[in-house]
Amino acid sequence: MNLINTALFIIIYYLVFSLIKKNKKRNENSLNGPFALPILGNALQLYGDKPHYKMDELKKKYGSIFRVYMGDLETVVISDWEIVKEMFSKNFDKFGDRVKAPTTKHFSNNYNNLTLSHGDNWLEIKEFLTNALKKTKLICFNQLLDDQVTQLLQVFNNYADAKEPFEPRYFIQRFSLNIIFKFCFNQDFSFDGISKKYDQSINKTEVGKHGVGNGKRLTELLELIDVVFEELAVNHLGDFVDILKPFFSLYLKYKSTSIYEIRNIIMEEYQKHKESFDSEKPRDLLDLLLQEFEYNIENDGSKCPKKNVEKIVGILIDMLMGAVDTTGSSLEWCILLLANYPEVQEKAFNEVKSLNKDRINLCDRSSTIYVNALIKEVLRYKFISPFGIPRSCSEDCYIQGHHIPQGAQIIIHFRGIYFNEEFFQNPLDFDPSRFLLNNDSSNTQFVPFGIPKRNCPGQSIAMDELYASISNILLNFKITTVDSAQIDETEVFGLTSHPNLFNVKIEKRN
Ligand code: HEM
Repeated sequence: MNLINTALFIIIYYLVFSLIKKNKKRNENSLNGPFALPILGNALQLYGDKPHYKMDELKKKYGSIFRVYMGDLETVVISDWEIVKEMFSKNFDKFGDRVKAPTTKHFSNNYNNLTLSHGDNWLEIKEFLTNALKKTKLICFNQLLDDQVTQLLQVFNNYADAKEPFEPRYFIQRFSLNIIFKFCFNQDFSFDGISKKYDQSINKTEVGKHGVGNGKRLTELLELIDVVFEELAVNHLGDFVDILKPFFSLYLKYKSTSIYEIRNIIMEEYQKHKESFDSEKPRDLLDLLLQEFEYNIENDGSKCPKKNVEKIVGILIDMLMGAVDTTGSSLEWCILLLANYPEVQEKAFNEVKSLNKDRINLCDRSSTIYVNALIKEVLRYKFISPFGIPRSCSEDCYIQGHHIPQGAQIIIHFRGIYFNEEFFQNPLDFDPSRFLLNNDSSNTQFVPFGIPKRNCPGQSIAMDELYASISNILLNFKITTVDSAQIDETEVFGLTSHPNLFNVKIEKRN
C-alpha cells in the first residue's frame, strides 16, 4: 500500500511540477504562449498533418515570437527574419547548435555529421566540407549538371512524343539524386528507355521491379531516403518527453534501420574510392574529402582514422539527405505552378526564347531576371522546409527584450514570414514579379537557405540545379494541366513539404 501511495505521490508531484514549470512566467520578459499540459505540452494542439497552419493561428494570437511546448521541450517559434538574424548571426555563439535528442543522435551516428553536430566538432566538419565542396564544384559540377539536364529533357521529350500524362516525381528525384551522387562518387544511376518503359510506373516498386542497370539500386536508395525523412519528420514524444528518451533511444537502435542501410551503401563507395584513390587526380567530393583526410593524418600525425572515416561518411549522408528532397521538391512544385499559372509560364518562356539559344547555361542568369524571380517565388510560395532545421539555445539570454531560456529549441515558422502581409504584398498570390521590384521586405525577409554561419552549404548547387533545369524546360516545352483542371496545390507536410502526386501534359515548343 505504501509503495502504491509513494508511486502515486511521485506521479502527482511530477504532473503538478511539470504543469507549473511550463505555464509559470519566469520573469516579465518571458515569452507568451498557449497553456501547456504536463508531459504532452502543446503536442495535442500541434498534432495533425498541417502543424504549420496551426502555428499560423498561434502566431495571430501571440505575435512574431512565442513559445510552445513540444512535450517537455520549450520551443521558441519565430516569424520574423530580423529576430532570426539577431539570434543566428549576432548571437551565433548561443544559437549555433542543434537540439540533442534520441532521433538526432541516432541519425547522425552520435552527432558525427555536419547537420546535427555541435560546437567545435561542427566547425571542424564545416571547414573540412567547405574546402572540399569548392574544389569539387570546380572540377566536375558544370559538366555533370549539363549531362543530367540533357537526360531530364529527354524524358520530357519522350512524354511529349507519346502525348501521355507525365507524373514528374520519380524523374525529378532521379535527376536530383543523380546530380549529387555523381558529385560525391563520380557515379550516376542509369537505366534504359528513360521514360517509355516507366511511364505507367507511378509506384516505385514497379520501377524497382523493372529496373535495369543500377536503376534498382537508385529506387532502393530513394526509398531509404524517403523512410529516413519520414522518421525525422515525425515529432516523436520519445524525443521530447524526458522520461521516455532512454526507451526511445533503444527503440531507434533496434527498429530504425534505414539509416544503417544508407550508411552501408556509402561505406561501399568509400571502400571502392580508397582502393582507386589518386591524390593527383581527384574525381569527386569523396576523393577531395579523402585528400583532406590524408592531409590531416600527415600533418598532425593523428592516429584516429576511424573517427575521420565516420565524419566523411556522415558528410556524404548529409549531402544525399540534404540535396535530394529539397531541390527535387522545389523543382516538382515549379512544374506544378507553371502548369497552374500559364501567364507566368509564357512570360518566363518569352524571356528565355529572347536569348536566341538552343541551350540556356548558368552564365545566362544575368539576362533572365524573370526566371530568377520565378525560382525565388517558388521557394517563397512553396517553401519546402516548413520549420527549417531547429537550433538550440545554449545559455539564458535576451533577444529584442524577450527572455530566451537555456535549452529552448528555436524554430523558424517560414509560413508565418512568407505569408505575412507586412513583408510580402498579397502573399497568397503566386507572383514572381514581386521579386523584380527592389522591395526591401522581399530582400530582407526572403532567406530560404538560412544565414551564415550555419546556413545551407548546398545553396549554390541547389540554385544552379534549379536554374539549369527550369530555364531549359521552359525553352523546350509547354506544360499544361491535364483536362484544364487546376492541380491541387495542397502541400504534404514533412521535414520537406511536397505536392501530392500529379500529372501534367507536355508539348514541344518549336
Ligand atoms: C532548394 C534547396 C534547398 C533549400 C531551400 C535548403 C535549405 C536549408 C536550410 C534552411 C538549412 C538550415 C540552415 C540553418 O540551420 O539555419 C539547410 C541546411 C543544410 N543543407 Fe540545405 N537546402 C537546400 C538544398 C541543399 C542541397 C542541394 C544540399 C547538399 C548538397 C544541402 C545540404 C544541407 C546541409 C548539409 C545542411 C546542414 C548545415 C549545417 O548544419 O551546418 N541543402 N538547408
